[in-house]
Amino acid sequence: MRLLKDQDLSNKNVVVRLDLNVPIQDKQIIDSTRIISSVPTIKYLIDKNCKVLLTSHLGRPEEGKFDQDFSMSPVAKKLSEILNHEIDLIDSLDSNDIFNTTQIQLLENLRFLIGEKDNNEKLGNQLANKGDVYIFDAFGTAHRKQASTHSAIQQAKFSCAGLLLEKEINSLDKALTSIENPFTAVIAGSKISTKLELIAHLNSKADFIVVGGGIANTFLKSQGFDVGESLVENDMIEIAKELFNSGKIILPNKVVVADSIDSNSSTTKNIDSVSGSDKIFDINLTSNMSEILKNSKTILWNGPIGVFEKEPFQKGTHQLAKTIAGSEAFSLAGGGETIAAINKFINKDEVSYCSTGGGAFLEYMEGKLLPSIEALGG
Ligand code: 3PG
Repeated sequence: MRLLKDQDLSNKNVVVRLDLNVPIQDKQIIDSTRIISSVPTIKYLIDKNCKVLLTSHLGRPEEGKFDQDFSMSPVAKKLSEILNHEIDLIDSLDSNDIFNTTQIQLLENLRFLIGEKDNNEKLGNQLANKGDVYIFDAFGTAHRKQASTHSAIQQAKFSCAGLLLEKEINSLDKALTSIENPFTAVIAGSKISTKLELIAHLNSKADFIVVGGGIANTFLKSQGFDVGESLVENDMIEIAKELFNSGKIILPNKVVVADSIDSNSSTTKNIDSVSGSDKIFDINLTSNMSEILKNSKTILWNGPIGVFEKEPFQKGTHQLAKTIAGSEAFSLAGGGETIAAINKFINKDEVSYCSTGGGAFLEYMEGKLLPSIEALGG
């Protein structure tokens, strides 16, 4: 893959594709992780005296028109504060201001542009050749084949990966290719169908796969346990049975049940005592799970094991986060909810690497070559 540090970029005009798709509520950014993670590449370019046009998408607006609710304006403000640098917001790719006002500029939401989502070649060409160089540093969007994430990379006179993308790939590869065993994956979340490829891929790599959330319910049911009225994917039972045959899937033996997700109280039950109307909303880490995690040299975590946003069902995910924080393994976490749980229960620095990717993280860990990475030379 072509890398930023291998090029002489001094004094160049550079277009940078970032993933600044951050959660915003009432015009306030509620998590700046992706903005902060993009800073090293921006600073590197500023130190090289480059003029920089930053670009990103934000949310999923209708294409072809400006929509204030999806404007990059709050992001420009936040980034400007973080960098302590003036940043002009550029409203159009045709603007004569590009590279002519502040040293750092931010283009309005790429998804306002017709052709972005369809990987339009004309738009790709325009983005690619606005500057001398096109830098792709949007790991979180590397699984989308769009004009700024694919066509522009291909059509630029020169394109390369930024520092965040390089760091993401090096960290994710530690848990994919240069694994230190024992390797434990914790895969949880509501649906097995969305993580099927990941579990199947990890079945050949991991020594243990700890499951939680709705995924655990489906595995439990596949092994003949009554899970009451818990969330289960019945059409996945046969597949769950096959995956379980690998002998690597670790199931909970104590679960936290309630009648409703809105319930203020919960009951902990042995898995063989779950009854007809019970709904499982959390699991207890078994001593076997804790032991496995403690002895692991590599840990991958994707998905909360319970409904951690609700007080009665947060204990399992809290316990899991603490156990991973206390382990000496190389620990890798990814996915929006997982990072939210880490932010709630522990310090991010207690995990070796937290990916900025959601869908991109999953697809990379499934062993797929992401379109942007392919366009950058693999
Ligand atoms: C993400 O948040 O996962 C990325 O920014 C991609 O966004 P998208 O799912 O809207 O393409």
